[in-house]
Amino acid sequence: MKGIVLAGGLGSRLFPITISVSKQLMPVYDKPMIYYPMSTLISVGIKDILIICNPRDVELFKNLLGDGSKYGCCFQYATQSKPKGIADAFLIGNEFIGNDQVTLILGDNIFYFPSIAERIEDNKIKEGAHIFAYHVSDPSRYGVVDFDDNNQVLSIEEKPSHPKTNYAIPGLYFFDKKVTDYAKALKPSLRGELEITDLLQIYLKEDSLNVMKMDKGTAWLDTGTFSSLMQASQFVQVLEQRQGLKVGCIEEVAYKRGYINKNQLLLLADKYANSGYGKYLISLIDE
Ligand code: DAU
Repeated sequence: MKGIVLAGGLGSRLFPITISVSKQLMPVYDKPMIYYPMSTLISVGIKDILIICNPRDVELFKNLLGDGSKYGCCFQYATQSKPKGIADAFLIGNEFIGNDQVTLILGDNIFYFPSIAERIEDNKIKEGAHIFAYHVSDPSRYGVVDFDDNNQVLSIEEKPSHPKTNYAIPGLYFFDKKVTDYAKALKPSLRGELEITDLLQIYLKEDSLNVMKMDKGTAWLDTGTFSSLMQASQFVQVLEQRQGLKVGCIEEVAYKRGYINKNQLLLLADKYANSGYGKYLISLIDE
């Protein structure tokens, strides 16, 4: 399984914060935003990751994350010149995906989902497309899914003014190898984008769209506005200080999955010796 982090876009809802720096490099409490989606992918065992960002920001992302070898992973980079839609990620990533399955995560989506790896394994994600459903109070801001008691998807709608349910579709999607062919067949929507919901509609018509409800006690946070960005930071701060554990820590996830050993973790910790981050990494070795 390959992974794509889509970290482009203009971030215009956060102007002036994001005028000169990518939104996905903004801090969410103690780490850059992109750490969260990256660590979500790595936590489900995805080591081959393509990061798609604006041409302007690619060197900044490379500077931060490198080629992934320090985490025992392999990161590649591609650029998107204009925000042509989320499904454009599969056209840009066509060669990278090759004949494999792929997971797409949006670079501004933050998950607190400790049981995610088991959920993925239990659902035996191989064929078709798999999405999550998360109960929210304001579904009109998102893609919305309607499904029956057997988790059979009935409909998918992008930002409906009269949503059929309160279940939003988070920006984490698992696809089989057909995804690039289906993406090539998409036409831009009225707002000129290749919509992820149109891609999901194709899988729905093929009867191969599966939905998994996110468990109670998990969280999916949005960082699209000033308030939600601040709330995400506060959420992470409260959780980390209360538990003494970190959320979205790439180094920890890579270490716990066995992608790096103790010595490699110590090397990473050394770099962060002046912040509590390094101490936290060292504490993982004694666990
Ligand atoms: O957050 C989940 C929601 O994300 C889904 O429920 C919706 O179905 C989906 O359309 C999307 O809605 P948003 O309105 O939040 O999408 P937005 O345009 O804000 O883009 C989400 C992220 O993807 C953001 O970090 C920027 C990046 N992006 C977006 C587009 C359209 C790109 O890198 N390139 C693009 O062309």
